[in-house]
Amino acid sequence: MPKLTSITDISRKMAKNRARVGIDCMDNSSIYNRRSIRKFQDKPVARETIEEIIRAGSAAPSAKNRQPWKCVVLGNGRKAGFLDTMERGIDREEHIHAMLPKSGSGLADAKNTLRIMREVPILIAVINTNGNNPFMPLDADERITEICDTLSVGAFIENMLLRAQELGLGTLWIANTCFAYEELTAFLAMQGQLIGAVALGYADECPDMRPRKRLEEIVEFML
Ligand SMILES: Cc1cc2nc3c(=O)[nH]c(=O)nc-3n(C[C@H](O)[C@H](O)[C@H](O)COP(=O)(O)O)c2cc1C
Repeated sequence: MPKLTSITDISRKMAKNRARVGIDCMDNSSIYNRRSIRKFQDKPVARETIEEIIRAGSAAPSAKNRQPWKCVVLGNGRKAGFLDTMERGIDREEHIHAMLPKSGSGLADAKNTLRIMREVPILIAVINTNGNNPFMPLDADERITEICDTLSVGAFIENMLLRAQELGLGTLWIANTCFAYEELTAFLAMQGQLIGAVALGYADECPDMRPRKRLEEIVEFML
């Protein structure tokens, strides 16, 4: 993918993308323009911008308004330690002891995600503060509660991605932290369940919209 040189290039490409998927070209909505970004500029993100993005996350709905979310913002200082820990976990998963033995085919992707995480200026680790260790069994009540809290944290993350888009930043939602779950939770030393991370920075690419299922495939009207 060639590098984009100007804002005009990016706007033109966004309009083309919207037209391609049949969305009104006047619609500049962050919902339709957001993409997973995997190439970032070497440009810092202001602390106020990060705070605004997290504030927008916290405006999300949550089950019983429990707001079961917490973030750890990792930048120049602690990001390298977090990622070295993740690399150790992936290595343990691949060569020593697989805690997710049926997901081994995802390890190559996890290593690629790790490379992207090293390049991005900011990583936001996201925790479900009520969550349990995913390697421990749950009864049905606990599972339902955890599903509701996971959905709430998902809404929190999506709000952050959309606000970042509105503010001109790119993001990548990351779940590949799962391969180093035990190592990373020990590193963070926080209560709760590590849901994943969000990579945040200024985009250095403008990907096309990835294919979407057609409306007829995903909806059944029972009017
Ligand atoms: C829960 C979740 C976990 C994801 N984990 C990763 C990841 O670890 N690494 C990665 O490169 N992309 C990850 N993605 C991004 C998806 O690959 C991406 O959203 C999907 O391909 C659609 O592309 P789009 O975001 O540009 O619309 C994740 C997305 C979600 C919602």
